[in-house]
Amino acid sequence: MRLLRDSGLPCISAPREALTTLAHANAAQPSVLVVDLRDQPEFPAELTLVKRQHPATSVLLVVPALEPSLMLEAMRAGVNEIIAHPVSDAELHTAIKRLIGSQTPAVRGEVYAFVGAKGGVGTTTIAVNVASALAKPGPEATLLIDLNTVCGDAAVFLGLEPRFSVMDALANVQRLDAAYFGGLVARAKFGLDLLGASSRPATTTFDTGRMRTLLEFASQSYRYTVLDVPRSDASALDALEGSTKIVLVVNQELATVRNASRMASTLRERYGQARLNLILTRTDRRAEIGLDDVERTVGLEVSHSFPSDYRLALQAMNKGRPIALDPQTELASAFITFARSLSGASEKKLKEQKARPESQSLFGRLAPRKV
Ligand SMILES: Nc1ncnc2c1ncn2[C@@H]1O[C@H](COP(=O)(O)OP(=O)(O)O)[C@@H](O)[C@H]1O
Ligand SMILES: [Mg+2]
Repeated sequence: MRLLRDSGLPCISAPREALTTLAHANAAQPSVLVVDLRDQPEFPAELTLVKRQHPATSVLLVVPALEPSLMLEAMRAGVNEIIAHPVSDAELHTAIKRLIGSQTPAVRGEVYAFVGAKGGVGTTTIAVNVASALAKPGPEATLLIDLNTVCGDAAVFLGLEPRFSVMDALANVQRLDAAYFGGLVARAKFGLDLLGASSRPATTTFDTGRMRTLLEFASQSYRYTVLDVPRSDASALDALEGSTKIVLVVNQELATVRNASRMASTLRERYGQARLNLILTRTDRRAEIGLDDVERTVGLEVSHSFPSDYRLALQAMNKGRPIALDPQTELASAFITFARSLSGASEKKLKEQKARPESQSLFGRLAPRKV
């Protein structure tokens, strides 16, 4: 502790029990967590939980000796560095600097969550096509996550057969890093990564904390992440605070509009009106329920509408090629325009952020980040 203080790095010391508090899903995290095990050669189990809930927190262990079983446990838990006592000033400093240097910059990508007001309205079609319109081949790929644990079908729309699924990612959240995640997704050539739904019906459910960690990892790794969210999954609906926009999808059917009204009020209460977006699909100008009726009932303006083109939608699915990739149809250009309006808002935000002076010095980043 004296070495840390003398180093001039802003640091907070805490008793070992604080690990339990840090392991909570919502606990604010330090950039680097130094755990002093000099007088306790056993590996603290709470540390495994901390890394599972907060994979981005870098953990440095100071141990009495490099003992193989302890090192193995530490490695399994995802500890980033281990140094054996006696530790020199320079050694500690270099290790911390290295950990900070390897952290991904805190630039978060955009996350767009699509929730249908009713099954079959066309949510997956929209999520897949918006993601495809945002896709870019190369290192700036877009990510689509199919959060439907029962019968998710986004892969079919993309002609992909992913070997792994959201379930694998949730079961192993503590292992999430670029290499591991790269092995879980299926990649479409036009620059879209898909984390698909499991092909088997879900036998386990995962807590909201894991879902949040997954979404946080996605937003740190991809410029754009698109979520196909099942409206019946409470843990998914509860994990959306990292989303830039939550888009509610409706059509002009009575049951859908009524559901939409209920869902909008729940989502509004949970995430605030500013983040909510309402879109209308399979638009029918002659429908008895008009656009005004939808807006009035749901309490949100319809920001975009998409024409109905069943033949095209079906053809695209059969081919496994998203509509938005061939821009000559009316439906494709509606998807592209919508994707541009979402990403346009994000470009603007990024420019404003860049215009602000950079206040994050190396040591400034050591102070606890507010989650
Ligand atoms: N704009 C559209 N016009 C016509 N049919 C559509 C449109 N969007 C989707 N569909 C069709 O509606 C059905 C349900 O679409 P899907 O995206 O799977 O809905 P959800 O994910 O809400 O269950 C599919 O057969 C799809 O081809
Ligand atoms: Mg669907």
